[in-house]
Amino acid sequence: MIGVDASPECFTIIFEPSGRRFEAPAGVALLRAARDAGFVLPSSCRNGTCRTCICRLVSGRVRYGVDWPGLSVDEKAEGFILPCVAIAESALVIDAARLVDLDVAP
Ligand code: FES
Repeated sequence: MIGVDASPECFTIIFEPSGRRFEAPAGVALLRAARDAGFVLPSSCRNGTCRTCICRLVSGRVRYGVDWPGLSVDEKAEGFILPCVAIAESALVIDAARLVDLDVAP
């Protein structure tokens, strides 16, 4: 039957080096999806211009919710992403050494 599964598709996101993980709903920017799951990444503008949230994608694929993510061609080629405007298109492994896990934060 068509339309029985109304739950949104999710992608598993793993942060390195901590190994912490969460499920990101499809279509939700990574910064927000992480925050909803109890993880905080550094951020400021949240619109892809300030680069405060920059981190490196180890594996997986993202797309952007804006046409102008503040990354150079070389940075994109090296795997850098801006989680405030990046949206998962697959399971991801992200190098996020500055991650704050709200479950274990002091
Ligand atoms: S918070 Fe500014 S670019 Fe992501």
